[in-house]
Amino acid sequence: MPLHTQVDESSQDEELNVNPVYVQEVSWEIPRYRLPEHSTLPRTALQIVRDELILDGNARLNLATFVTTWMEPEAELLMAECSAKNMIDKDEYPQTAELERRCVNILSNLWNAPPGSEATGCSTTGSSEGCMLGGMALLWRWRARRQAAGLDATKPNLVMGSNVQVCWEKFCRYWQVEPRYVPMVPGRLHLRGAEAAAKCDENTIGVVAILGSTMDGSYEPVLEISQALDRLQAEQGHDVPVHVDGASGGFVAPFLQPDLEWDFRVPRVASINASGHKYGLVYPGVGWVMWRTPDALPEDLIFRVNYLGGEMPTFALNFSRPGAQVAAQYFNFVRLGHQGYRRVHQTCQDVALHLSGEIAKIGPFELLTEGKDLPVFAFKLRDDVTSYSVFDLSERLRMRGWQVPAYTFPADLTDTAVMRIVVRNGFSMDLANLLLSDMRLHVRFLEHHPQTQPPPEIQQMRQSFKH
Ligand SMILES: Cc1ncc(COP(=O)(O)O)c(C=O)c1O
Repeated sequence: MPLHTQVDESSQDEELNVNPVYVQEVSWEIPRYRLPEHSTLPRTALQIVRDELILDGNARLNLATFVTTWMEPEAELLMAECSAKNMIDKDEYPQTAELERRCVNILSNLWNAPPGSEATGCSTTGSSEGCMLGGMALLWRWRARRQAAGLDATKPNLVMGSNVQVCWEKFCRYWQVEPRYVPMVPGRLHLRGAEAAAKCDENTIGVVAILGSTMDGSYEPVLEISQALDRLQAEQGHDVPVHVDGASGGFVAPFLQPDLEWDFRVPRVASINASGHKYGLVYPGVGWVMWRTPDALPEDLIFRVNYLGGEMPTFALNFSRPGAQVAAQYFNFVRLGHQGYRRVHQTCQDVALHLSGEIAKIGPFELLTEGKDLPVFAFKLRDDVTSYSVFDLSERLRMRGWQVPAYTFPADLTDTAVMRIVVRNGFSMDLANLLLSDMRLHVRFLEHHPQTQPPPEIQQMRQSFKH
């Protein structure tokens, strides 16, 4: 054994370096909106924050969101292990970059990219960023075409249904593109081919087709829209590409409607986005966007980052981002495979169809969709039911924690108020039946207790549901 000797006098008072977060201070006063002067014990801080959050709704009973609210414990563990990895540090975390590459390849297959087309894509924070990148590629390509032909390139427009998600309105405002909305009308609640083509001209950078309208879960007919644009090109010469916003459907159609032609099988589809965190079954924070060929993605939108002594092309709006969601997406692909995704989504669809069928039988409701496309459906009160509204029912369902949103449709159909139910993994048939019995009960209550109009400020709050 080695012998040790007492250190000399001058070293006796040397101190250990203690990580500042190990210091345990006790503090009773925590200002609500300013940074506290002192630290708090970690357990105390945890309890304080948890206490604040108990008023949040129960995520599993949230039938409003499309976003994943349950993952397996193994996925949660993996995400915790990867949450410190920065997606942008390709050099430091080359295997996370490799998992992203595999996911892009898996998706290019699921979305039927033609063999050898070199379909190119990346992960994003969600579909909003995917849509923004898809829209930018359309804009850049249109501008380059116009400039090369010596034509005016200052008045771009984008054609879409008024049922688009707000991210497209954002895209148009941020990039000064004129949004050309095709309004919803009774009996046509999403974009169709003829209406889309009629809005296009030489300044149209593209048409957005939504695979799974946020409003009612219905698929827009990508093939029909595309064929209408083929005719437009033959007649007027405008070659208008299609971007498919497959936020939800991009992860549903390949499993539930494999024969539906909505993806790169349709030649006019230039790009597709989808949310990994919706029916890709990952917790919030991941989306995907893919272009049919490398030239659908203009070179001057691409930035190169250091990667293993070389350069890796990137296209993103933000820089740092956790790697956890991408690892979790790959986990799901490995864990579920084609069969597993199909089983999960089929179960959701069975529940959605059961729910919509039973809701139709209650009496006062009219279904707008049934859940045959996405496992999502919308319904309204029959026109002759005037003594209460879907907002009243939505509020009463809250009493047991059910979150079923009620909202009005966009411009031209703002008089139509609907409820929408999004069935996700984890919303079982048992839960569906419990919801049904509560709905029957509340409908009976409302029929016997006609509701009065609440004051305007409450009405305003009721309609402020955002998709
Ligand atoms: C059709 C559609 N596009 C885009 C989005 C935005 O997606 P994200 O929340 O992933 O940004 C949504 C969200 O519901 C959507 O339904």
